[in-house]
Amino acid sequence: MKFQIPKGTFDILPYGADEPWKLSSLWRYAEEIIRQTALEYGYREIRTPIYEQTELFNRGAGESSDIVMKEMFTFEDKGGRSMSLRPEGTSSVMRAFIENNLAQSGSIHKLFYIAPMFRYDRPQAGRYRQHHQFGVEALGVAGPAQDAEVIDLLCETYRRLGLKDLTVDLNSVGDAPSRIAYREALQNFLRPHFQELSEDSRTRFEKNPLRILDSKDPKDREILQNAPSILESLSEPAKEHFNELRHLLDKCRIHYRINDRIVRGLDYYKKTVFEVTAKIVGAQNALGGGGRYDGLIASFGGPDLPGVGFGTGIERILQTMVSQNVAMPEEMHPLVYFLPLGDEAKEPCFTLVTECRHQKIPAEIDLQSKKIQNGLQNALRLSAKVCAIIGSEELKKGVAQIKHLESRRQEEVPLDRLVDYFKELL
Ligand code: HAM
Repeated sequence: MKFQIPKGTFDILPYGADEPWKLSSLWRYAEEIIRQTALEYGYREIRTPIYEQTELFNRGAGESSDIVMKEMFTFEDKGGRSMSLRPEGTSSVMRAFIENNLAQSGSIHKLFYIAPMFRYDRPQAGRYRQHHQFGVEALGVAGPAQDAEVIDLLCETYRRLGLKDLTVDLNSVGDAPSRIAYREALQNFLRPHFQELSEDSRTRFEKNPLRILDSKDPKDREILQNAPSILESLSEPAKEHFNELRHLLDKCRIHYRINDRIVRGLDYYKKTVFEVTAKIVGAQNALGGGGRYDGLIASFGGPDLPGVGFGTGIERILQTMVSQNVAMPEEMHPLVYFLPLGDEAKEPCFTLVTECRHQKIPAEIDLQSKKIQNGLQNALRLSAKVCAIIGSEELKKGVAQIKHLESRRQEEVPLDRLVDYFKELL
């Protein structure tokens, strides 16, 4: 029987990947930069299970969102409870925050995660059934400075990863009063066109008309061209929040453009929403996005703390790095490759390679090759710096032949000096 990887998923490999962004060295490199940046900004890591009660996501992401309506991996456990693989991180983090009483340990909580997410979507370039997100959630601060910090962290992470030509789209979806006013304005505008709208948009007309703005349907888009802007319906406090945020972003020289069509696909957003896109070909160019979700924690039965955060897909980051020719890290190479010639050299070589490793010298040993030429080829393939050749002659003299693979220089080094010799090459 032949097994195949599930549709819409991929392996991350040390070599042999069909596309460079699937190389594990690249993932490790990006994740290290991401972790370092988040920690420097004062965010602490949180890890939650990959599945939760389905109801959590229904209530969090929202019953009218595509993620919940169409894309959840839902299953019944043996106790008959409905569970779902997490489609997004915010709901899980809020659940963990409340359940573990984290609110007791202070008034501000800045959390980050790097974790797989699952969405049962039609797979296409940049869209997978299992993807990975770097996300942050900043809880406790209602003012726009927290939104600015979160947006800056996202942009700074991209900058450190070497990404260029990014666009930050900023919008406000308002607070509750703004939403009521805008809902009515949008419905009034759309009503004469109701029959021309796509089926999805007609369903959303009553349930969640704002999400119609997100429609990709060409006819919907044409109708929406003259739709009223949500920014015209903002209440005074929402307007003030938005203007202050813009002022802060300007002060910090974070470039953005106002885009009143950004509503995002999740129901919990209030006030600020944003999305970052990269100029690369293909439809899936949203690198990351997020916004404010005041009221979400309280709606889960927790304390009434405000929150703001983002999520960014690591696949899309790496694909953009590759397409923008960002300098990539190299895999770690062995410094020394031990090549024992004949059975009697195997044990002393094995002791030496082990000693090197204990001294943090990256070292490899060839336990297979019978011929020196094959062994040297293996050492070259691994990009080792030097090869340590030890046969019966060398054992008698208590030395190793050290061959520098680039310069081809060769010298004899006493076995008891070997480790120090390699340390100098590090
Ligand atoms: P989201 O926009 O649904 O937000 O996802 C965040 C990012 O994850 C997207 O911008 C994209 O880069 C990546 N992504 C989403 N779906 C896929 C997919 N099927 N394949 C590949 N990449 C994908 C959220 O999930 C919110 N929880 C973000 C947030 C956190 N808002 C506040 N806090």
